[in-house]
Amino acid sequence: MDKIIIEGGVPLRGAVQVSGAKNATLPILASALLAEGDHLVRNVPDLADVRTMGRLLSHMGCTFERSADHHAASLRVPAAVLPEAPYELVKTMRASVVVLGPLVARWGRARVSLPGGCAIGARPIDLHLKGLEALGAEIELSHGYVTATAPGGRLKGADFTFDGQTVTGTENIMMAAALADGRSVLRNCAREPEVIDLAEALNRMGARIEGAGTDALRIEGVTSLRPLDHTVIADRIEAGTFMVAGALPGCDVEVRGCLAGHLEALIVKLRALGATVTEVAGGVRVTGDGRPRPVDVRTSPHPGFPTDMQAQVMVPLCLADGSSTVTETVFENRFMHVQELQRLGADISTDGKTAVVRGVASLSGAPVMASDLRASAALVLAGLAAEGTTEVLRVYHLDRGYERIEAKLAPLGARIRRGKE
Ligand code: EPZ
Repeated sequence: MDKIIIEGGVPLRGAVQVSGAKNATLPILASALLAEGDHLVRNVPDLADVRTMGRLLSHMGCTFERSADHHAASLRVPAAVLPEAPYELVKTMRASVVVLGPLVARWGRARVSLPGGCAIGARPIDLHLKGLEALGAEIELSHGYVTATAPGGRLKGADFTFDGQTVTGTENIMMAAALADGRSVLRNCAREPEVIDLAEALNRMGARIEGAGTDALRIEGVTSLRPLDHTVIADRIEAGTFMVAGALPGCDVEVRGCLAGHLEALIVKLRALGATVTEVAGGVRVTGDGRPRPVDVRTSPHPGFPTDMQAQVMVPLCLADGSSTVTETVFENRFMHVQELQRLGADISTDGKTAVVRGVASLSGAPVMASDLRASAALVLAGLAAEGTTEVLRVYHLDRGYERIEAKLAPLGARIRRGKE
């Protein structure tokens, strides 16, 4: 397995380019199942999860190919596919669940492995299934699989309110309703920019979706859709991760290709902890002016502070001149990075959903273990800030969501390289 080795304590200076959004790419690739023909998705990131989605679509009978630079994906969807997502693929990527809605909407039947939990939580899909049932699907759970069937082969438009805000749940039901017979109104929907990007892709395929980005979606079902040609938005979480790097003491990082409007809640907190954040042409510049100030952070669905940025923002708080609280309201176990940050000298205590971070003067390098995607990104940031050598082990977690992070950080002056454990 790979590891990342960092000689910390070097202030980062320079510009870094953001890749396409993983969490927009995955549902948009799945949405291609809604239309027979040749699809093209541009600005996709070169990530393990994208390759996994490609393998899953190929397993169904699609032809999935990436361009030479791996930043465009072409997908040929046949008239009929094997409407199944097997456990051996789904267990490596929970987001595979987003093929459920398109399969049952287009072919009237889908058999998808239950994704199971992961390091950050149980990750149930009950809200996805309730939404499909509202559209008329019959749901059967057995042997670790969910089978969804549309009586008569087609779902029916309906009014449905999600009990809780779910990003991929909103995406699954939006895609299913796009081909349903009649009108649907979906309420308490997720408002993330990735949901908006998917809705824009679907509308360019001929879907009739209004309200994306609000908590109410109005969808007129159509009988068929045409292949998509779509350019994916920038990855706001990768961008936010590099913005936090810029907020570290003495750093000055220009993050290119991102939209400040996708990260307003993060920018508020970075300014509160003392960073200078300025919008520049095509991106955002973040400068860490001296020792960070303590701030309190509470995650919530968009447009609130993103749970996917919670681990990363904890790093400057570890070095603040005071105590901060970090409250995680979205997932039940998303403090796996805390014990690893403590190995680097951080002074953090957790009690249920809240962590109290008492700032220390400095962190010191040590071997640490990645546990999930964003926790591993936080450990890289901590290694950059720490004095001495940090080794982040099990970086396969990192490679699921960050395209060669060491190649992006090295030009900023980071002494970072990849090695073998
Ligand atoms: C998406 O996951 C993202 N993944 C996650 O990013 C992100 O952390 C999460 O949204 C929240 O923003 C993708 O888009 C591929 P949810 P998702 O359904 O859709 C509960 C990353 O790092 N819930 O919005 O799975 C759930 O347990 C990943 O890139 C139910 O109870 O998250 C959680 O507590 C990690 N029942 C909360 O809702 C359901 O049916 C939000 O989950 C669905 C969700």
